[in-house]
Amino acid sequence: MANATTQTTKREAFGSRNVFILSAIGSAVGLGNIWRFPYVAYEGGGGAFLIPYLCALLTAGIPLLFFDYAIGHRFRGSAPLAFRRMHRVAEPLGWWQVLICVVIATYYAVIIAWAAMYTWFSAQLTWGEGKEEDFFFNEFLQMGNVAKTGVSTQFVPQVGLPLIGVWLIVIIIMALGVKRGIGRANTVLMPLLTVMFAVLVVQSLFLPGAVDGLNAFFTPNWKALADPAVWASAYGHIFFSLSVAFGIMVTYSSYLKRKTDLTGSGLVVAFANSGFEILAGIGVFSALGFMAQAQGTDVAGVATDGIGLAFIAFPTIVSQATGGSIIGVLFFGALVFAGITSLISVLEVVVAALQDKLGWGRVRTTLTVSIPVALISIAMFSTTTALAVLDTTDAFINAFGIMAVALVAVIVVAWLLHKLPVLREHLNRRSSFRIGWFWMLLVGALAPVVLGYLFVNAVIAKVTTPYEGYPDWFLAIFGWGMVIALVVLAILLSLLPWSRRSHAKDDPEYDEFLIEEDYMPDAETGTVRVPGYTSKGAQP
Ligand code: ALA
Repeated sequence: MANATTQTTKREAFGSRNVFILSAIGSAVGLGNIWRFPYVAYEGGGGAFLIPYLCALLTAGIPLLFFDYAIGHRFRGSAPLAFRRMHRVAEPLGWWQVLICVVIATYYAVIIAWAAMYTWFSAQLTWGEGKEEDFFFNEFLQMGNVAKTGVSTQFVPQVGLPLIGVWLIVIIIMALGVKRGIGRANTVLMPLLTVMFAVLVVQSLFLPGAVDGLNAFFTPNWKALADPAVWASAYGHIFFSLSVAFGIMVTYSSYLKRKTDLTGSGLVVAFANSGFEILAGIGVFSALGFMAQAQGTDVAGVATDGIGLAFIAFPTIVSQATGGSIIGVLFFGALVFAGITSLISVLEVVVAALQDKLGWGRVRTTLTVSIPVALISIAMFSTTTALAVLDTTDAFINAFGIMAVALVAVIVVAWLLHKLPVLREHLNRRSSFRIGWFWMLLVGALAPVVLGYLFVNAVIAKVTTPYEGYPDWFLAIFGWGMVIALVVLAILLSLLPWSRRSHAKDDPEYDEFLIEEDYMPDAETGTVRVPGYTSKGAQP
């Protein structure tokens, strides 16, 4: 029970299950879907890639999405609090996820800022036809006279100023809270994004040459299925795309009402995310088919990934297509909206964690957390040397942040703490889609094997071949150094005491939840029917 000295604020909540679903889709549908998936799929065998993709979705993506929901909802907390309530030794896992989100937020915001500028440039074709590549690297990012892997402090205003704008918008949304800020932003932006995207795809389908693009995208290359790297890229992609394993879904599900259909919601989120992704593939490849035809080459000659696709290939298409400006505004506008709804979910992992640990109010925590993260983001990524740092950080945080924490989390929860039966029972209490032992097998056995294999391979690949040929000192700081520092810091943060006002110390809401859910220990025998914890009982 709470007493006068340990009063905690009431946990925030989404307005309804639908707003939660919309926000979870908003988090999942992001830059990964629009600019990453189409190329990953194309590289991984086109139509045939759907097989490893669906396998990854069904055997790892959805099971781990349920895993995250169960942890956040059952232990009702931000990632560090939920893991701590599960067991004290698990707390560093939560902080590790929080720190991964800090890193992702810093570079994710800058891509949104670029997209915002390119929305504006599209309207006037600022880059000049035929000069798209030169414009991006030399005029926009001003990389012309600097060493690619140096560390410069030269501020690039056309990147830095929109970046400050992105941070201001995001900080305002976050400060308004879960219901009025995050929930509302998603309720407005997601329908808008869907409409913009649908118009964009239809418009792309009518471009001359679109069919060639679609043929290239969907024609299966069955041989690709024999390549383990293709399977690895499918599994690697699904985590980032679904926003699983980095604390987001744990945090969001902690804001759900007690009686909620968790697995049903998860299925809606997962299939909506994949639907978006496949739609993005159709739109992007139709446009690339047009570009190939216009340049008299084949689709393979123009297909490219990530940054090259969005900021060089797309502007080229915009320059050449009739009504290109509209395509550009829709494409870059969609990137901005999809990016913002994902960025707020990434940042919420950090804000919620500090709010739980310190017991502070929403606005104070948001400002204390977001301003330093925003300043790091602006300092690191609005200079002339930002691109290589961004590229390295992104590659390392995916392989040795998200995948690594997912691997350690499934091993700790399944094998060290034996919590899968608790989580499974919790999921089945109110859900329309009941999960059986098969889910435990996927999370407890298949996931560790697949993730372990991917992790070892990623380490070997990155040790033997320096990433992108960047110098050792550079990779030691922005790659290896960064990912190792996160683990050390996570352990240190878990050693810091929780404030007396924090949710971990005394949370009447959580006690109530446990009583109502019948999770309390039996008064006579003292045994817990389902091995769970009260808010106080969880604390040694
Ligand atoms: N899930 C988000 C994306 O795909 C982070 O970009």
